[in-house]
Amino acid sequence: MPHPDIALPRLLAHRGLSAHAPENTLAAVRAAHDAGCDWVELDVQLLGDGTPVIWHDATVLRCSDGRGRLAELDLPAARRLDVGAWFGDAFRGERIATLAEMLALIAELGMGLNLELKVNRGRSAAALVESALPKALDALPPERLIVSSFDDDALACAREIAPPSRLALGVLFEGMTRDWRARCEAVSAFGVHADWRRLSRRGAAAVKAEGYALLCYTPNDPAAFANRWGWGVDAAISDDPTCYTGHLP
Ligand code: G3P
Ligand code: MG
Repeated sequence: MPHPDIALPRLLAHRGLSAHAPENTLAAVRAAHDAGCDWVELDVQLLGDGTPVIWHDATVLRCSDGRGRLAELDLPAARRLDVGAWFGDAFRGERIATLAEMLALIAELGMGLNLELKVNRGRSAAALVESALPKALDALPPERLIVSSFDDDALACAREIAPPSRLALGVLFEGMTRDWRARCEAVSAFGVHADWRRLSRRGAAAVKAEGYALLCYTPNDPAAFANRWGWGVDAAISDDPTCYTGHLP
């Protein structure tokens, strides 16, 4: 079955333009757009009340002025957090973005989205997918959406909701495991999303030989990453795509 006709860019902004703005915020996506990025990668998970929000960690400690687990917050409590000041005074007052708000912004800006289904320990993959995925499918056309996850249950659940022709799925790998083909085949994957430091030349060749798109996270040094383009890597998911100017093949 064919996949959506995705025009994958060379560079996606990881968690938004997270080198220059607080990660996973509306400000980070606007910054990415202003910097000329066409696509962003963002993490989604559920608050305790079931609201999907754009957030990476299991807790709010690192990226807000609060503490505690995301799963223990409802939306009003999450909204009280300042999620920008930790990064810099210019971002003071930034609020956690719901998935709905973020999708509206990305649609308005005409950007593409790699939405990572972030299933932190003890959280339900099915609950996340059933809540988040229909919203993403409603908001964005097939050629501007890639949904990825480290979690095979989340990927399987996503594939049950939408066929390959409607939804490009990316399988996330820390290291390429022996079962990488089986993981990809199980969900009719569009792409392999690999840790750039753990990807080998041989592994890259095998992925490309099977016809998968190959995306690497999170290379932030264009010189160190330079030879990977020659391995067949299609796209880099970087905190700072702006630093690749003049460094792309
Ligand atoms: O989706 C690529 C990358 O974001 C995966 O790792 O921990 O940054 O979400 P992480
Ligand atoms: Mg991510």
